[in-house]
Amino acid sequence: MKPAIHIKEIYTNPTSFHIYYSHTGKNKYRDIPQELLRLVELKAENYEFSAKKNEYINLERVSEKGIEHIVVLGIGEEAVQDLNALRNQTMMAIQLARKVKAKEIAVHITNHTKGIQQIIEGIYMGDYSFDMFKGKESQKKHPHINNVYIVTSETTEIKKLITKGTNSATALLLARDLVNTPASHLHPEVLVEYAREIEKKSKGAITVTILDENECRKLGMGAFLGVAQGSERKPAFIILHYKGNGNKKFAFVGKSITFDSGGLSLKPGDSMMDMKIDMAGGAAVLGVFDYLASEKPQISTFSDVYGVLPACENMPSGNAMKGNAMKPGDIVTALNGKTIEVLNTDAEGRLALADALVYAETVLKADYIIDMATLTGACMVALGNDLAGMFSSDDEFEKKYSVFAIQAGDDYWRMPLHSAYLTHMKSTIADLKNISSVRYGGAITAAIFLKEFVKKAKWMHIDIAGPAHSSKNGASGWGVLSVIYFLEQVTKV
Ligand code: BES
Ligand code: ZN
Ligand code: ZN
Repeated sequence: MKPAIHIKEIYTNPTSFHIYYSHTGKNKYRDIPQELLRLVELKAENYEFSAKKNEYINLERVSEKGIEHIVVLGIGEEAVQDLNALRNQTMMAIQLARKVKAKEIAVHITNHTKGIQQIIEGIYMGDYSFDMFKGKESQKKHPHINNVYIVTSETTEIKKLITKGTNSATALLLARDLVNTPASHLHPEVLVEYAREIEKKSKGAITVTILDENECRKLGMGAFLGVAQGSERKPAFIILHYKGNGNKKFAFVGKSITFDSGGLSLKPGDSMMDMKIDMAGGAAVLGVFDYLASEKPQISTFSDVYGVLPACENMPSGNAMKGNAMKPGDIVTALNGKTIEVLNTDAEGRLALADALVYAETVLKADYIIDMATLTGACMVALGNDLAGMFSSDDEFEKKYSVFAIQAGDDYWRMPLHSAYLTHMKSTIADLKNISSVRYGGAITAAIFLKEFVKKAKWMHIDIAGPAHSSKNGASGWGVLSVIYFLEQVTKV
């Protein structure tokens, strides 16, 4: 259960866990009440606390008044509000609170209206753990926080921001839950159910269309269906739609392979272990639409916002007797008519995305497309676990998005769409092959392959194989917040 958030003008529950924020400079303790000031100052001496970003004081004691914990978070200079630091700092403090099994927390945000949304996100993120499949005992050992009191004045503006933060955090945590859920419990049909839930919750603001296998075949999505054909589970091509007030169309495409065994080009055991996460792109799309469903924000730049999830499993064969899986050497035809020689069935993401990108541009008429995909191990080799690899056909689009990615903490590094590498992707018997003839630069060759399926649209491809998930922390929800902020706040692209 997520903690319940309440607003309180004044909060003096003596046994709670208190969180304060503090800026560098003379006035750094202005939010700390008189009766606590001495204590905080004493403790701060040991820490040499100057309220710089990432500094904090963790005061554990039982005072005369019975307060158990006070955490003062340094968030740097007041003029430069770092929204990402504010969220991260809050998250860290909430994690401390959970560690000491605090049930009730007071978060004092007297002077921080601008970052309220991020503080709320940090609260939910700090309390998050994926325990859907854990027994009662282990849940008891790591109890969640029950109530969080936001100590601030109860204005309409603040209430709205708290709701907004709750909605964006809920969206992020939904994406995390989806990615953390194993393939035994999450397959294409389950993604369809989630999309339908979002549609229902939106009360008319979002419409969902599902194309089944036959409809995909009729349209000509041979690349996507090639990936799907080895699985007993039916594919689903999911489209979500939300209306804005602008004049450009935007599509958010997410790789949605609910399990990537590699297909007949089977992955070795160790590499297959985490492959339930291969729908993290699609999870980010559903997260964003979950936000649109509950917040229903005005979108001033785009007239239409689409989400596209080509969802299927990549399996060697659902029925070994039928032997119906795609085989290395097979040729499939994508929605734009291009033929692809599939030399490695483990390079399946680009096949599913090829059809989804063509669909977004030619059927949905998207002017702007972002695709997010756990696409290549090579991107992880290049950039590690913290950073996504970003490829863009349009500098301005990338620049606009980057502002929100920084605020969201969705860190990435831009990589080149080096078109000369297209020669490595040319087949002798088809238009393209799905793997490169050269071993190196795998993230780039994958991006160059995708580029063949986008014509005029301004496009960004983000390879999230690294940051989507870590074995220690599980799913991150990478991409949800940056796209939410971008859609709602970008003024011109
Ligand atoms: N889903 C994987 C990429 C991946 C690897 C994501 C590790 C997250 C963690 C993708 O479908 C894949 O298998 N890519 C191959 C491509 C290769 C065969 C050209 C890879 O990266 O090895
Ligand atoms: Zn694969
Ligand atoms: Zn994959």
